[in-house]
Amino acid sequence: MVGIIGEAISIGWPIFALLIGLLFYYQATIPDPVQKKQVSFKLMIGLLVAFMALMAIANYKTNFYGESRLLPVSLVMITIATFIASLYFTNISALMKIGGFMFFVAAALSGYGNWLPQVEGGFPPPVVKLDFQSMSPQQLGDEGEKIIFGGLGQSKVQGAIGKGQCPLCHGFQKGFLSERAPNLFDIPGRATKRLDEPNYHKGDPASRPSVQKEAFEGSGTAENAQEYIAESHACPNCYVVPGFGVKGTNDTESPMPRIHKPPISLSMGELAAVDTWMYVREGLEAPGYEEIVASYEKFIPEADRITETAEDDGAAAGGVLATGEEPVNEIFTKGACIACHTIPGIEGATGKVGPVLTEGSNAPQRLKDGNYKGKAKSVREYITESILSPSAYVVKDFPDNQMPKDFGKKLSAGAVNKIVDYLSQLKEGEEPPPIE
Ligand code: HEC
Ligand code: HEC
Repeated sequence: MVGIIGEAISIGWPIFALLIGLLFYYQATIPDPVQKKQVSFKLMIGLLVAFMALMAIANYKTNFYGESRLLPVSLVMITIATFIASLYFTNISALMKIGGFMFFVAAALSGYGNWLPQVEGGFPPPVVKLDFQSMSPQQLGDEGEKIIFGGLGQSKVQGAIGKGQCPLCHGFQKGFLSERAPNLFDIPGRATKRLDEPNYHKGDPASRPSVQKEAFEGSGTAENAQEYIAESHACPNCYVVPGFGVKGTNDTESPMPRIHKPPISLSMGELAAVDTWMYVREGLEAPGYEEIVASYEKFIPEADRITETAEDDGAAAGGVLATGEEPVNEIFTKGACIACHTIPGIEGATGKVGPVLTEGSNAPQRLKDGNYKGKAKSVREYITESILSPSAYVVKDFPDNQMPKDFGKKLSAGAVNKIVDYLSQLKEGEEPPPIE
């Protein structure tokens, strides 16, 4: 209450000052005592009305985002203020009365809506930092589903994708064809068996054939199912599922990004949420939060652990990924291009699922290729076509249907234009152009 009065004064002090000034002015200049009294009285009323109106505004401002149901109080106060004004300022009385009546109706309606249980105004909720640690397994799993698929109940929706970007590469439903990466159904069950596979070299990282033997020096190998999952996420290169390695590396290098590093950057709590979802959605009992976090601590050095959950920027689910306002490197990140492509000059763009995007050199070659059946005539047209309809031409030695086909819906024309500008300037063996 005191806060609201303070707020009202801070908004309206020039008005008060003006009214009080006028009050003294009339006191001093009007000689007729009767008239003087009348004018002063009206000014007092004006002061009161202005104060009420400002209190109403202040109350509205203060309680706008809060849980409290005090918003209708503002409307009632404005109604009363207009009625008082209409009583004393007769020349504008009709106008004031109509205004007051309309406010009264609005106040009654909004008050009714506001007092109904569970009906909150349609205002954006305040940003809440998620406290993963104190969630139940179900709640934690729900958060995991949101991170992977962009929303609750989205796991069965074709093309749904969240911050974790996993569905870019992985299938999740039983029996769902997943060519780019192993289907993650049954991962909790399969994890233990992975430890016994010949290339895993449990307990003996030095003899692993992979380009990276350990998540970091001395971290060792996983000893149980949860640790296998954590190691797969934090160090995809440590063990590469046969048949899924980067082309030409004989399964010694993984195309999967480390999901605790940019651009995906999952925090420790988010990693625990993702893992929990993979257990609970199969009806299995998930390891406890502490146990999951401990499994990641084994493979992620302290300096690389993200403990604060970044606020959700809402770019995850559905909708447009990039508007074209962003600098081009951000567009590549938001579009997840960098998870699959190496793009010279773009930080973090080290993906190996698709070709290196030196289109200044590649595109002219593609257009000359006898197998090219697309419609493009120029480099710019070729790049645009590759983004909007990837199957128009499939680059040799790369499979079809890996690159998502819905960028036409998810990137604005401006964003595609910026991508095309940048990629057309990239030539093999030359310095990349500056960003923007
Ligand atoms: C750019 C493609 C890509 C993305 C994005 C990706 N993965 Fe992977 N992932 C792979 C590939 C390919 C493999 C198999 C090679 C390997 O073992 O590293 C794999 C392996 C795995 C494995 C081990 C599977 C097994 O059968 O042993 C797990 C678990 C996993 N990923 C989880 C995830 C999760 C969770 C996400 C999202 C947060 C994710 N991945 C994002 C490509 C990807
Ligand atoms: C899930 C992995 C994946 C993602 C994400 C992805 N791509 Fe691709 N992309 C591929 C693969 C695989 C190919 C090669 C097969 C083909 O031509 O369709 C390819 C081909 C291309 C080509 C043609 C390259 C050439 O040299 O002819 C361009 C251009 C391209 N992608 C741009 C993009 C851009 C821009 C984005 C982000 C907006 C993106 N890609 C996101 C996998 C991906």
